[in-house]
Amino acid sequence: MKNTVRLDKLLSNFGFGSRSEIKKMVRNGLVTIDGEVAGDPSMHVDPEKSVIVANGRTLNYRKFVYVMMNKPAGVVSATYDARLRTVVDLLPEELACFDLFPAGRLDIDTEGLLLLTNDGQLAHNLLSPKKHVAKRYYALVAGQVTEDDVAAFSEGVVLDDGYKTMPAELIIIRSGLRSETELVLHEGKYHQVKRMFEAVGKKVLYLKRIQIDGLRLDETLAPGECRELTPEELELLKGGDGSHLFDT
Ligand code: URA
Repeated sequence: MKNTVRLDKLLSNFGFGSRSEIKKMVRNGLVTIDGEVAGDPSMHVDPEKSVIVANGRTLNYRKFVYVMMNKPAGVVSATYDARLRTVVDLLPEELACFDLFPAGRLDIDTEGLLLLTNDGQLAHNLLSPKKHVAKRYYALVAGQVTEDDVAAFSEGVVLDDGYKTMPAELIIIRSGLRSETELVLHEGKYHQVKRMFEAVGKKVLYLKRIQIDGLRLDETLAPGECRELTPEELELLKGGDGSHLFDT
């Protein structure tokens, strides 16, 4: 099937400049398609088949973009907010042009792994309640987390609205005045981690998501930083059916 798009629209979507800047570039003979100088900014090209060079830079075309962000506290997981900064506001210029949206939400005070993409199908697969995609969190909790809590979480706990959660895997890293834990969930109810700990009388002091399905947060990303997924990382998300538990 032919998959052509207007040259000026394509280049502006991929961050080569505004439509008028691109028109100028074409007029000045600075854009080539498969080695031939492009004559008309409104011409149609097939970006999957043609090598397009503008201003000396080759277009790295991809239909969908997948970005891993280490979400910082203080920004909302949305594309727009009238008052608050959003995760989309944090995208660097070269990624901001792709109409990315967050696949899922983290609370404003939660940090960690957030996937942003323009691939609606993948986002749907990760978020569908039927798929039970595993998500792993690091939670710092006030007070001692005990083996009783581990047992309660493995049965499922009853939240403040009467909902009984699915079984969840709680791992105690260190128990003390403040306890370090990891928690693996297969569903995503509103404020679920915080409400599960509340159900056993405990308060989450700090929360960070560290894994979605097989995809682990790149810990070299500082809060607020992001990067595109590698092909291998993308395969981890696309390859499985999302229902398996990852290794602990
Ligand atoms: N559970 C929570 O309580 N908050 C989040 O941001 C994610 C899971």
